[in-house]
Amino acid sequence: MIPKTDLDLQSIRTEGDVNLSPHRESWQAGHLSAETKRLLAEDAECFLHQAMSTPCLNALRGANGAWIEDVEGRRYLDFHGNNVHQIGFGHPRVIEAIKSQFDQLPFSTRRYTNEPSVRFAQKLISFAPGDLSRVLLAPGGALAIGIALKLARAATGRFKTISLWDSFHGASLDAISVGGESAFRKNAGPLLPGCEHAPPPDPSHCPFRCTTTCNLACADYIEYMLEREGDVAAVVAETVRNVPVIPPPDYWKRIRAACDKHNALLILDEIPIGLGRTGQFFAFQHYDIIPDIVVLGKGLGGGAFPLAAVIAREHLNVVGDRSLGHFTHEKNPVACAAGLATLEVIEEQNLVERAATLGAKTVEDLRRRLSSMPLVREVRGLGLLIGVEIAGVNGNAADVAERIMYAALTRGLNFKVSKSTVLTFAPPLNVTEAELDQAWTIIEAAIREISGDQHIK
Ligand SMILES: Cc1ncc(COP(=O)(O)O)c(C=O)c1O
Repeated sequence: MIPKTDLDLQSIRTEGDVNLSPHRESWQAGHLSAETKRLLAEDAECFLHQAMSTPCLNALRGANGAWIEDVEGRRYLDFHGNNVHQIGFGHPRVIEAIKSQFDQLPFSTRRYTNEPSVRFAQKLISFAPGDLSRVLLAPGGALAIGIALKLARAATGRFKTISLWDSFHGASLDAISVGGESAFRKNAGPLLPGCEHAPPPDPSHCPFRCTTTCNLACADYIEYMLEREGDVAAVVAETVRNVPVIPPPDYWKRIRAACDKHNALLILDEIPIGLGRTGQFFAFQHYDIIPDIVVLGKGLGGGAFPLAAVIAREHLNVVGDRSLGHFTHEKNPVACAAGLATLEVIEEQNLVERAATLGAKTVEDLRRRLSSMPLVREVRGLGLLIGVEIAGVNGNAADVAERIMYAALTRGLNFKVSKSTVLTFAPPLNVTEAELDQAWTIIEAAIREISGDQHIK
């Protein structure tokens, strides 16, 4: 069914901005050539339509560093990049690793291992604290979440999970069962049994009415659920939601302790925000806890190959008699060569530390630039995961946020709007300071333009 009403659009605006809005239509009418429109029409003709992707916004012909280039030669700073470009697009080390691996061994038939996969897994483990020392690879984040769920069931002998409303763990049926967004769950039919949900640590929409600061009532509620059920296999959650929603300092300690008390595993999904984006290699390192399973993906394949990983604690290496993943491209040598090059670049160029220091500086800079603007409710961030929440006037915040997004796009900055009202920025961790300055100058100008718009007053 194609959504028609504002209410329909609202429900799919949670994960990203929508592809059916009048603002998109008028941006396309004003900016795209007949040739681009022809390609978009052909795309819409042959691909299945779905919210947030097809029909598409525009067509690309290039991607390099922090930049993408459309088929008409316009360049945009890409602060969305689907969170795959921690080291920028087309990093020379990644390209070189891919090319030479293609020449050497393009695929690894099951039952054989290969050098790049082993080196990649070893390198990944070297970043992980504690006894997070067992890896399983998958060609996508949702598939890796599926592995984590199966492992939790097998290791605990239980099947129930507690996860968070508003969360996203991928688009497959198992992932949407633990996910909490109606854009993915609505009308999907029966989902996995035993998937219970709790409110996320988001004071702006808290059913426990914690007002401006999370008072951890939501963490207490998860402990209550664990105790009441008594047989939960795992709590599954994004450590920090990409929007961003940043839990308070004690949140994960509380959940970790509750999981330990009730013999449930803690599975953390860091698919879009791992690999240093938050200023720690793993976001859970901000919270001084270690999960039982952490899931990475997105940029793990260097922004070029689909690659995700489940990293589990040593004591979970207990299901040698069953298949957890068994994906055809499990130990793809080319993807792993790209992944190894990515991890080496992150390490050698100190990109985790850079994300921490540059991120703190940029949030300060953005606050200085935007805080006095009536349309801006809040600027927040953790490392280079940055959000600007739009306030709007008379309940039109979602509309205003979308207008700002298209005004910024016209000026050369690409990003997405999350949860209807949050301008969400994920620049590469090696973005230059000049590029950041350029992006924030665009944002300032776009907000000013929309503030001056007659419709907003
Ligand atoms: C938090 C989170 N988990 C899981 C996924 C699913 O990853 P994939 O699209 O590779 O299946 C995503 C993708 O956006 C994500 O943001």
